[in-house]
Amino acid sequence: MTLIENIQALEVLDSRGNPTLQVTVYLSDGHSGSAIVPSGASTGSKEALERRDQDPKRYNGKGVLEAVRAVETILAPHLKHQNPFDQKTIDERMIDLDGTPNKSRLGANAILGVSMATSAAAAHASNIPLYRQLRSCESLYLPVPMMNILNGGAHADTNVDIQEFMVIPVAAPNFHEAVRWGAEIYHNLKKVLKKKKLATGVGDEGGFAPRLESNEAALHCIAEAINHSGLRLGQDVYLALDCAASEFYRDGHYHLDQQSWTSEALLRYYESLIRQFPIISIEDGMAEDDHMGWQQLTAALGDKIQLVGDDVFVTNPAILKEGISAHIANALLVKLNQIGTVTETFHAIDVAHEAGYRCIISHRSGESEDTFIADLSLASSAKQIKTGAPARTDRVAKYNRLMQIERELGSQARYAGKEAFSFEVR
Ligand code: PGA
Ligand code: ZN
Repeated sequence: MTLIENIQALEVLDSRGNPTLQVTVYLSDGHSGSAIVPSGASTGSKEALERRDQDPKRYNGKGVLEAVRAVETILAPHLKHQNPFDQKTIDERMIDLDGTPNKSRLGANAILGVSMATSAAAAHASNIPLYRQLRSCESLYLPVPMMNILNGGAHADTNVDIQEFMVIPVAAPNFHEAVRWGAEIYHNLKKVLKKKKLATGVGDEGGFAPRLESNEAALHCIAEAINHSGLRLGQDVYLALDCAASEFYRDGHYHLDQQSWTSEALLRYYESLIRQFPIISIEDGMAEDDHMGWQQLTAALGDKIQLVGDDVFVTNPAILKEGISAHIANALLVKLNQIGTVTETFHAIDVAHEAGYRCIISHRSGESEDTFIADLSLASSAKQIKTGAPARTDRVAKYNRLMQIERELGSQARYAGKEAFSFEVR
């Protein structure tokens, strides 16, 4: 029987040039599997704890050598000779070993690295693709990509408060055409910005990061780019926002566009944006602590568009259950490192799906060449993926992996298209 033989970890760099962990699980049959842990910037306060060394002499305190040590000196000996195909037991052992509710003793980055690398090693040992190893699904869907082509908020050094402006090629006939549409819109957006003499440097997720006078100005530029691409906004391509509202919520008010807003006023603002543009998904429209605002938002817009909970749920099954009971949002953003194991991530996805919530598998703003989430999007039947602009290797690695899977599966999988959404996309 194939068992875990050894586990190693290495401090490597993420897409922002900050250190993160690469973990490799070695099996007794000679196979191995690796994973690189992602890292967020606009993090939810209840996320599992990412362990950093806090040593100011290395990487501004962001080193992860202690997490590396936790993998090699605590997790590796405990998991030696365990069954790599039993992901649940592996993950539960790590959770027990850590013993804290937020994985702060060993570090969620240490635990997640081992968890993901175990799946990867098991897939190699079985000689099956990772998406089949993670979970066997009857129907396989290539997810609809939400491509973040204009970056603001904590992901850019500009005055644009909304963090992400995304295009969704809903009506594309297949995944690789969806990627082409997104990439062409991206290039046309660059031309639109250049023509307006705006900067075309990019933010953390590969989207352009111009200084603009308003959020509407950003949406107008994107609409123009879609038009130049020969695509119809509101028929072929739709828009989505990640407001990351916790980032501009202070003292019970939202500080947006140099004004102070109540949640009620912010809701009215979103309603006016939706009237002007075909926005079909808004993520973190309210702050994680503003449950009343979230409830108002959900009551007003929950049957019209997708309302995605990121910071408010942090991929935590227990927090998500409370949110579902409180009628907050109608979709879950899924980030492995918010909760810290593959097993708990699937648990959160299952809780969401049972409640009729849609799931969007997501990257973090700090990413790498690792493409685990592309496989996860198929294995979880999520039908939607959010993994940044169609530019920069850390982002396109995931799109490229999905195009490879699309070819490999042929007629065994189909592009989710409109089926990705719970309401009718018109
Ligand atoms: P983060 O941003 O990875 O910096 O948290 C992504 C998001 O908010 O969805
Ligand atoms: Zn978000």
